[in-house]
Amino acid sequence: MPAHDLVVVANRLPVDAHLREDGSVEWEPSPGGLVTAMESVMRNVDSGAWVGWAGSPGEAPDPFEADGMQLYPVMLSAEDVARYYEGFSNATLWPLYHDVIADPEFHRTWWDAYREVNERFAKAAAAVAAPGATVWVHDYQLQLVPSLLRDARPDLRIGFFDHIPFPPFELFAQLPKRNQVLRGLLGADLIGFQRERDALNFLTSVRQLLGYTHHQHEITVPGIGSAPARVVTAKAFPISIDSHAVGEMAEDPEIQEAARTLRHELGDPRKVVVGVDRLDYTKGIRHRLKAWGELLNDGAIDPDEVLMVQVATPSRERVDAYRQLRDEVELTVGRINGDFASIGRPAISYLHRSLDRRAMTALYQAADVVLVTALRDGMNLVAKEYVASRPDELGVLVLSEFAGAADELRAAILVNPHDIDELKTAILRALAMPEEEQRAAMQSLRRQVLDNDVQGWAHAFLGELESAGRAQDVPT
Ligand code: ADP
Ligand code: F6P
Repeated sequence: MPAHDLVVVANRLPVDAHLREDGSVEWEPSPGGLVTAMESVMRNVDSGAWVGWAGSPGEAPDPFEADGMQLYPVMLSAEDVARYYEGFSNATLWPLYHDVIADPEFHRTWWDAYREVNERFAKAAAAVAAPGATVWVHDYQLQLVPSLLRDARPDLRIGFFDHIPFPPFELFAQLPKRNQVLRGLLGADLIGFQRERDALNFLTSVRQLLGYTHHQHEITVPGIGSAPARVVTAKAFPISIDSHAVGEMAEDPEIQEAARTLRHELGDPRKVVVGVDRLDYTKGIRHRLKAWGELLNDGAIDPDEVLMVQVATPSRERVDAYRQLRDEVELTVGRINGDFASIGRPAISYLHRSLDRRAMTALYQAADVVLVTALRDGMNLVAKEYVASRPDELGVLVLSEFAGAADELRAAILVNPHDIDELKTAILRALAMPEEEQRAAMQSLRRQVLDNDVQGWAHAFLGELESAGRAQDVPT
């Protein structure tokens, strides 16, 4: 088995296997912000490895190479998908960590599967990591991997990054098996969060539930048996995008032409307002549509002049809350179009699919306004992608205060999406904003996104992990 100095462990590989009708396998980019970010980090690493699931139940494909990276698929059975992925990860942890926007469900069989699958991922990572290697574990699906890995391979330097919010103590305390989850994470040398608030929530839970002390961001984890006490650092590292790659694509004349063609195909409306999200209840799509429907109803927006485009990537389609969301969103879009569209001209153009990166960049360039109305979001990379796609310095970002990106993108129009009146006012303000004002805001947003890219984020995390890994032995 080859040995790698840097191993990324995430629920998903950067590519998903799709079975074609003739039985052959087609590889497509996996959905979500984690892959967008980590894929561009790993492209610049020599002989890195990525351990993850290939996206379908059943036998895992053999390890293979893609983009100079070695990919090690981990097998999930249909039952693992139902209990570990759709169950504990996406029907227990996901809603609990996102402010219980949907009701979290808990079943002991789901927890058992979560533990077993985490063991499988830890074993797979331990098998491909070189002596003294760095292993970087990602996200809420794999919170037990750090401690399992430490038990199996005490020589490793282990980092963990949480891409989603870490909930306030009062919510986290509801999680059955909460102490096991905390102990799982504390197997890492460094635990990264999107926002300072997430790190503080985690530190509070560790203090309240395990009784461990911390000095600022450093937690002392007492030694057990012959194992020495350790220091674990928990702090914020706000993730970003490959701003320069997106920027370069945005300067491509073919993409700029594609953006003009797109506007033309949309009927040359005076304004185009765009939403792009995974179809997830945390993204506030229902609130956005409610505000849009009311604005049309009030006569504040003329559907012959202003068009909304909503692109929704299919996501977690077998989880109840996601099925329900899809039904509601599509019912609302249908109603709004029924009331306000004219023949050949919708009031909302809705797509339930993914677009490729070039088509996304063209869409961002065609957008006068982008609406990011998440009710809770770890970061939200769409907001940063929009800004990086606008070298013309035009366009307006309406951004929820509840997205991690709001901590950095202060020049956006910041909104509380729960307040539909406030959302409506923000949309109207965005639509009416003079170019000079757009430019001033966009310049400030672009400085933030271009100066803080995903390479800088990875460099900061791995740099800190290197020193965190050395400070292991502390007096008890
Ligand atoms: P999350 O990780 O919750 O999905 P983010 O906004 O952080 O949310 O990241 C979403 C990523 O997926 C971004 O890179 C965005 O460009 C991409 N994406 C979202 N919706 C689509 C879509 N319909 N087609 C293609 N890519 C999409
Ligand atoms: O952090 C966001 C995230 O949940 C990732 O962990 C995940 O890969 C992505 O969104 C997409 O979700 P899923 O893998 O469930 O399709």
